[in-house]
Amino acid sequence: MKTLKQIIQEAEKNKVAIGHFNISECAGLKGIFKAAQELNLPVIIGVSEGEAGFIGYRQVAGLVKSLREEYNYPIFLNLDHAKSLEKIKEAVEAGFDAVMFDGGGLSFEENIKKTKEVVEYVKNFSASRQTEILVEAEIGYLKGSSTLLAETIIIKEEDLTKTEEAAQFVKETGVDLLAPSVGNIHGMFKNAPNPNLNIERIKEIKNVAGIPLVLHGGSGIIDDDFLKAIDAGISIIHINTELRLAWRKGMDKALKENPEEIVPYKLLPIVIEEIRKAAYNRLKLFNKL
Ligand code: G3H
Ligand code: ZN
Repeated sequence: MKTLKQIIQEAEKNKVAIGHFNISECAGLKGIFKAAQELNLPVIIGVSEGEAGFIGYRQVAGLVKSLREEYNYPIFLNLDHAKSLEKIKEAVEAGFDAVMFDGGGLSFEENIKKTKEVVEYVKNFSASRQTEILVEAEIGYLKGSSTLLAETIIIKEEDLTKTEEAAQFVKETGVDLLAPSVGNIHGMFKNAPNPNLNIERIKEIKNVAGIPLVLHGGSGIIDDDFLKAIDAGISIIHINTELRLAWRKGMDKALKENPEEIVPYKLLPIVIEEIRKAAYNRLKLFNKL
């Protein structure tokens, strides 16, 4: 089977993006996996520190690995927005395929320093196990959080990743993947699409970075912006809020339609179906199908 690195390189070459979807539990994983299988596309499952803490680092790694092995399927696991080397170590030792160190809130110099430590640790670990765990890092600060946002967020020029800093960051840290701030935010507005992406900035960063770019905060972005961003150099797109919303919608529907039901495996298929639909539509778009 192809490695995650090879799959990302293919996406880069074919100008499509791999869907990265966050989960908090098993229904999410089932819905996303079904969607990917139906389209026969590789997929990345993401868990933040909170999500991984809830499922268990070793448990989520075991679930994803079991799907990969049983179905001989390119499904991979990423620790998303890790804030410390300690959590990165926990994920790497549990068998994650990739980790993202989020130093977006740190000063540029501090971000470089901490990211370098993460890269060094992960690369040494990978070498000792003869495997290749990928490291992603973020520069520029992404506002919001993966939820429905009541208030509008204004993105200013200074919030965006500076092209020169992207070049320096990649060179000094040796990261495999870069998550820039290019007009994206985490979460989605309740009643309006998210702000437009800065497509020119994506192109500039891609030119100087020379590594695959990851777009965070995918929920709520309009389709046309996604397609332009992919053509400009985005190879992985993160979606969380839209699936959380689908989870809640499915749960409300399941309870409403079955007010007396108490058996989880009879209620949860409705949740899985809502998540499947949401992931399916995004995967289709990201792969220009
Ligand atoms: O890392 C996770 C994502 O960037 C998800 O962002 O909740 O806006 O889709 P989102
Ligand atoms: Zn993110």
